[in-house]
Amino acid sequence: GDAPGVESRCPMSGAAVGDRFVLDPASPDLHADNDRLRAAGPLVPVTAEGVPAWAATTYATLLTVLTHPNLSRELRYWSPSARASSPPGTAIDRIVTDTSMLNAEGEDHRRLRSPMATAFTPRRVEQLRPKITAITERLIDRLAQLPPDEPVDMRLEFAYPLPREVISEMIGIPPAHQDELHELSDAVAQVGALEDSPQVRGRLHELLGQIIDERRDSPGEDLITDLITLREKDGGRLSNDELYATIELLFIAGHVTTVNLITNAIGALINVPGQLDLLRSGQCPYSAAVEETLRWDSPIAYFPMRYAVRDIEIDGVPLRAGEPVLACFASAGRDPGQYGEHAHRFDLTNAPAPHLAFGHGPHFCLGAPLARLEAEIALSALFAAFPDMRPAAPPEELPPLDTLLGNSTRTMPVLLGR
Ligand code: HEM
Repeated sequence: GDAPGVESRCPMSGAAVGDRFVLDPASPDLHADNDRLRAAGPLVPVTAEGVPAWAATTYATLLTVLTHPNLSRELRYWSPSARASSPPGTAIDRIVTDTSMLNAEGEDHRRLRSPMATAFTPRRVEQLRPKITAITERLIDRLAQLPPDEPVDMRLEFAYPLPREVISEMIGIPPAHQDELHELSDAVAQVGALEDSPQVRGRLHELLGQIIDERRDSPGEDLITDLITLREKDGGRLSNDELYATIELLFIAGHVTTVNLITNAIGALINVPGQLDLLRSGQCPYSAAVEETLRWDSPIAYFPMRYAVRDIEIDGVPLRAGEPVLACFASAGRDPGQYGEHAHRFDLTNAPAPHLAFGHGPHFCLGAPLARLEAEIALSALFAAFPDMRPAAPPEELPPLDTLLGNSTRTMPVLLGR
């Protein structure tokens, strides 16, 4: 039969882009693709959604890329000719054009990030524990009403609503707008039923504007109120555009990634023999399951984009000024060069193995303490309530997300088995 592989499913592109791995958003086996990418080198030419880029595939090279002084997230460094030949309207395009902290550097980056930073410190986030626990318990009570011997989709019924309610409350989204806002942002993040489109974008912007106006009239203890106050008090330290982009970033970045983390952790724990026992017996803490999932099954597959600000060399590979680099988070997490024989094994006794799933350096994930706390509370409460949970389908039969950005499955059917 066909040799499996990136190349065989996706023929090499033609002369226009040279010999490149074509990253396949619908790939049935991301980790096998990544093994092949790493075998091709630490920095590999790829095409992602039609965009030619370098892919940083190993732990060491990804770490170099995330902290390199001559790689920048600022869009103005992307070579105009390369950018012009990239298709518009892709997920990559949307991420690299947003005007949030994600795509700023230096002083500008500090200006956009620092107003949000205090809200996400481990200490401040720890204060959310009772609230997160209450939301979790409510979801578990609902699960307990379901027939114990029929498949339940844990992504839909548990992993999805939990971070959504937490981040909505933190940001200050009125309950009346939550459903529509989430439907729209799911479309933008390419995980929902609705397709992303200019209409969806327009409506999302309009709705955010309405919510911001409501908060302006009746301030609360939430991040939107903080940002509005800052914008108005400090003489426009944030532009209106930046205010929108920040809220949208928190909303989208803070949701789908955490859904993937909780889904992937449940999948690993019910499928890899012996692991759940280590948690139930107290030999390993739930935080170890969170960290090992982040490493072994990173919620983010590939993330755009950094650009060479001048001609540079990384691990012996020359990069021309203006060329973009893609971060392969899931690949770095299984790099045998970093993790040895342990790389492909989900094993809580080896955790916590340091990983790069939240990035590194100035852009290190702002929401990492929140994501960690949510996942830890979610998993410990879930397996306390349903100690006999087991898979309702073999993991290799679950459909993967159809996007280059996220790494998870579209469903996670289980038998709760009380
Ligand atoms: C940045 C991963 C959850 C907000 C990042 C980056 C990664 C990441 C890898 C760095 C991107 C880069 O340097 O190129 C994750 C994962 C999550 C998660 C795996 C869940 C498991 C969250 C949550 C929030 C959040 C819950 C907020 C509520 C952000 C923001 C940035 C960011 C604002 C941009 C930081 C900057 O540019 O300075 N995230 N994230 N993330 N994340 Fe997260």
